[in-house]
Amino acid sequence: MTTNTDLEELERTLLARVAAANDEAALEALRVEALGKQGSISALMKNLGAMSPDERKTFGAALNVLKDKVTEEIVTKKAAMAEAALDRQLQAEAVDVTLPPVRPRLGAIHPVSQVMEEMAAIFGEMGFAVEEGPDIETDFNNFTALNFPKNHPARELQDTFFLNARDEQGERKVLRTHTSPVQVRTMLRQKPPIRMICMGRTFRKDWDATHTPMFHQIEGLVIDETTSMADLKSVLTAALKAYFEVDDVKLRFRPHHFPFTEPSAEVDVGCDRSGGTLKIGTGDDWLEILGSGMVHPNVLKNCGIDPEKYQGYAFGMGIDRLAMLKYGMPDLRDLFANDTRWLKHYGFSPFLLPGLAQGVG
Ligand code: DAH
Repeated sequence: MTTNTDLEELERTLLARVAAANDEAALEALRVEALGKQGSISALMKNLGAMSPDERKTFGAALNVLKDKVTEEIVTKKAAMAEAALDRQLQAEAVDVTLPPVRPRLGAIHPVSQVMEEMAAIFGEMGFAVEEGPDIETDFNNFTALNFPKNHPARELQDTFFLNARDEQGERKVLRTHTSPVQVRTMLRQKPPIRMICMGRTFRKDWDATHTPMFHQIEGLVIDETTSMADLKSVLTAALKAYFEVDDVKLRFRPHHFPFTEPSAEVDVGCDRSGGTLKIGTGDDWLEILGSGMVHPNVLKNCGIDPEKYQGYAFGMGIDRLAMLKYGMPDLRDLFANDTRWLKHYGFSPFLLPGLAQGVG
């Protein structure tokens, strides 16, 4: 016959084993052994049937107390173990947020890419969309649509690289000699009003300190019912002020000829060369910086735009030259020499994207 003393003994043993269990598996095994269907406490429960009512009352009550106690001890210990495991995991994965961030080595942004970002920010702020076009162009987009007469020497004047293959009409594709074909693409695709810039690689047969066979241009085009040279001048002045980060910029328009604009002008920016350094903005000297003009009616017609209703202005500049002027790089050829020491010196952090709010410099 099991006595209360036996129960006390059993309780001591079980609680000691709960205390000694050192992982969740051991605890679970112990729970099954004591409280499971075949467990020691359940076995004692089965004896109750053979007892007198009085015995059953006291023994049953004692057994229930024991069962509750052991259950509670196991549940409490399991919870404590889970909490300890979580603490260990948190400790192991702890991060010291006061340490300075580790900057991955991402290399440097090339000055040409930087200037493109700067220009996108500057013109974007003035409502210009950024358009794109391919490096390999049709003769039509690069020349014909832009009012270069067929077989006119002007095509050769651009020192064009022609591809060998001829299409059915006997025409050869070209490496675009300027970004102007992107104007054509935009006008053919989109109805006025148009307000766009495009930037990218251009190609001509040329090689010296200020010319490379591959270089970069930025071009702008505005088509609307009332556009004028005055608008052109104000847009260029605002853009150059923002780009060179100066309070004032003087511009001088000199008559020129481009097939795609009439009238056409070359634009000089005021500068100061005194003291051996070049300061862009104002001053007594001039520096030629871009070509521009009012879009020729033939170009509008070629692109499906009614020149009686619409007019436009356009401008084009060399991005590499803009970069050299702003960041003081003396030789154009260095820009494309793939020398990582040069890039380390002149490159920009990938973490600092230009924007008008924080300055584009
Ligand atoms: N396409 C010209 C060049 O490569 C630059 C230029 C001049 C572009 C006048 C224009 C423009 O859009 O209006 O020399």
